[in-house]
Amino acid sequence: MAERGRGFTTRAMRAETELGEARPVSTPIYQTATFSFDDPEALAELIRTGKDAGYVYTRWHNPTRAAFEKVVADLEGGERAVSFSSGMAAITTALASVLRSGDHLVTTPRLYGGTHSLMTNILPRWGIEATLAPSHRADDLVAAMRPDTVACYVETIGNPTTPVSDLDALGTACRERGVRLVVDNTFASPYLCTPIAFGADIVVHSVTKYLGGHYDLTAGIAVGPDDLMHEVRELSTDLGGVSNAFESWLALRGVQTLELRMERHCTTAARLAELLEGNEKVARVWYPGLPSHPDHEVARRILRGFSGMLAFELAGGLEAGQRFQSSVEVAAVGASLGGTRTVVTHAASVTHTQLSREERQAVGIGDGLVRVSVGIEDPQDVLEDFERALEKA
Ligand SMILES: Cc1ncc(COP(=O)(O)O)c(C=O)c1O
Repeated sequence: MAERGRGFTTRAMRAETELGEARPVSTPIYQTATFSFDDPEALAELIRTGKDAGYVYTRWHNPTRAAFEKVVADLEGGERAVSFSSGMAAITTALASVLRSGDHLVTTPRLYGGTHSLMTNILPRWGIEATLAPSHRADDLVAAMRPDTVACYVETIGNPTTPVSDLDALGTACRERGVRLVVDNTFASPYLCTPIAFGADIVVHSVTKYLGGHYDLTAGIAVGPDDLMHEVRELSTDLGGVSNAFESWLALRGVQTLELRMERHCTTAARLAELLEGNEKVARVWYPGLPSHPDHEVARRILRGFSGMLAFELAGGLEAGQRFQSSVEVAAVGASLGGTRTVVTHAASVTHTQLSREERQAVGIGDGLVRVSVGIEDPQDVLEDFERALEKA
């Protein structure tokens, strides 16, 4: 376009990308809030035919976000995905798409804290009743279902003591009853488990964790069949919690190495779990790959590997947990999980301080419980770090 004769700032705003025959190998960050059209009628047509049909406005649709959604839909074996600004935005919007005021939902008592609060504080305000079954076990969840139950919500692997949901049994039971099964697959990732294959209707993730994998982004995603995802997409654009182009790009970059990272997370976690089980200062270890784990058999059926998440209880209780936590050098002390670096958290002094001792114990969190997200560092360094820290615990 001839810019001669136009003002300085007008010319400064006319950048265009000309690639000729070339195509970018890495999906670019489409850092634009809106898109312009040579033909105004084409824009009008897109707005008329729906927000999903093309690129008009980034809250509706963005090419970088779309690329990430396509990859995750494929990895999860779903038809379509919608990505969000956080895992909680994905969970809230997915549930809002299947539930209406007056509906009933069944879920487990060991949910991620934010989800637990959504179920017990927020959904009731919207006229939705959530029943927490006595445990995450399929028979308990099914027994809690009623004729007005519309959805069942579980986590593939739960927090912090890694309970594993029997998605096979739940998928069948939900299908028989016409109940929507919504699964948070964050701790497993689509590399270890694809809940849709067991009958889940919607899979959600905190992309912040394994999918992103590097502790550098906050995002979420929901995956499912076209009809349900159409509703999720509509809600996401109207409620507005969508992921932006840069986070989508980071997530897209992260997911490329998911298999490699998960393989390393799993092998190091298995070695660490064995080391911990053999240490006299450790009263108990929870790792789905250990035969001693209560859900080991379920895990073997549901998962392709046992993840990088584990928990252990120090016999020395509260003070031992605090001493352990301040003695690690390779691992970081922090609240997140699923990234490249090993992260440890002593629940009683960091993540669960708002609960009384009795309340903590009721949800299986003892005084000396440490949660570990095993990273991808050189395995020997992680093992030696834990051995050293255990000596001081
Ligand atoms: C299992 C699980 N689901 C959902 C979330 C919420 O994700 P986000 O922090 O990305 O909103 C978390 C966060 O820790 C989580 O651990």
